[in-house]
Amino acid sequence: MPVSLRDSLNRPVRDLRISVTDRCNFRCVYCMPKEVFGRDYRFLERRELLTFEEIERTVRNFAGLGVTKVRLTGGEPLLRRELERLVEMLARIPGLDLTLTTNGSLLPQKAALLAEAGLRRVTVSLDSLDDEVFRAMNDVDFPVERVLAGIEAAAAAGLRPVKVNMVVKRGLNEESVLPMARYFRGSGHILRFIEYMDVGHTNGWRLDDVVPAAEIVSAIDAEHPLEPLDANYHGEVARRYRYRDGSGEIGVIASVTQPFCGACTRARLSAEGSLFTCLFATKGFDVRALLRGGASDEELAEALSGVWRARTDRYSEIRSAETLDLPKVEMSYIGG
Ligand SMILES: C[S@@+](CC[C@H](N)C(=O)[O-])C[C@H]1O[C@@H](n2cnc3c(N)ncnc32)[C@H](O)[C@@H]1O
Ligand code: SF4
Repeated sequence: MPVSLRDSLNRPVRDLRISVTDRCNFRCVYCMPKEVFGRDYRFLERRELLTFEEIERTVRNFAGLGVTKVRLTGGEPLLRRELERLVEMLARIPGLDLTLTTNGSLLPQKAALLAEAGLRRVTVSLDSLDDEVFRAMNDVDFPVERVLAGIEAAAAAGLRPVKVNMVVKRGLNEESVLPMARYFRGSGHILRFIEYMDVGHTNGWRLDDVVPAAEIVSAIDAEHPLEPLDANYHGEVARRYRYRDGSGEIGVIASVTQPFCGACTRARLSAEGSLFTCLFATKGFDVRALLRGGASDEELAEALSGVWRARTDRYSEIRSAETLDLPKVEMSYIGG
């Protein structure tokens, strides 16, 4: 495997996030607000989506360039029909750690199929245990209980440890931080708090809406003492802490207050096959055109390496009043 592929800031490519659909059955207010993603919104059509074969070919090429971790996401990835077939195809690529991020709504039906197909772990998003708060945040009246059932189904299918992602937005669900910590402490699942980010253009982001990760850690530490843990690997985005009494760990993803661009080894492939080298990118590279235009594997690998080599992105480190107004793509499109 060529270990020499580096971007302009000497960062290797290690992780690939693949959005398998831009559609979702939730309308989380911070991600796909109903006013924008309503009846008239034009989602991608089936023929515009990369096929499973096209995704697999892209992943194989990326694996040859150093990618060792693939995460399927969206939109809601479990809405993509027969996703387990894609999982099975990707699981055959040697040396790949394969995971998935989901809102959990379809896990009770899908967890066992996905595990059998070769999925290793899942991350489930859950923003509150308070039903009223959660229903208001997903904005489709989806109950907490059914996401909890999804988490348990995943654990029972062996997709462990389940990571649970909670986006924290000031004034919306900050009161849910401690109840979530109490609930998941000792459960074997790993709760991770995510600072609310200014992705896309539709969520009306303001810095005041961000609850800094340090504030979250100190609130939990005051109740259940914590100590920092080392990162599992270089470029890990979550800062990890363990409960001093041995009852598990939590993570915080502080992309606003403690940006981690310097160690970012991640590329993203949108559902229609555009390659982005930053979550905050404005323009992608059209991999689908190459795939459908008869490019050879060598040509494909050369193009992917070229995109990575030219990469200069460090948006979160230079985030400022000026960058706020730049055009950006939506998270549901590019894949969170
Ligand atoms: C875009 S979703 C896609 C996968 C799946 N639908 C889900 O919700 O897990 C991936 C992750 O991005 C997070 N997310 C979405 N918008 C965000 C924002 N503005 N700031 C921080 N995290 C966000 C979600 O909470 C979720 O954990
Ligand atoms: S965060 Fe996930 S579940 Fe919520 S709207 Fe975005 S894609 Fe859908």
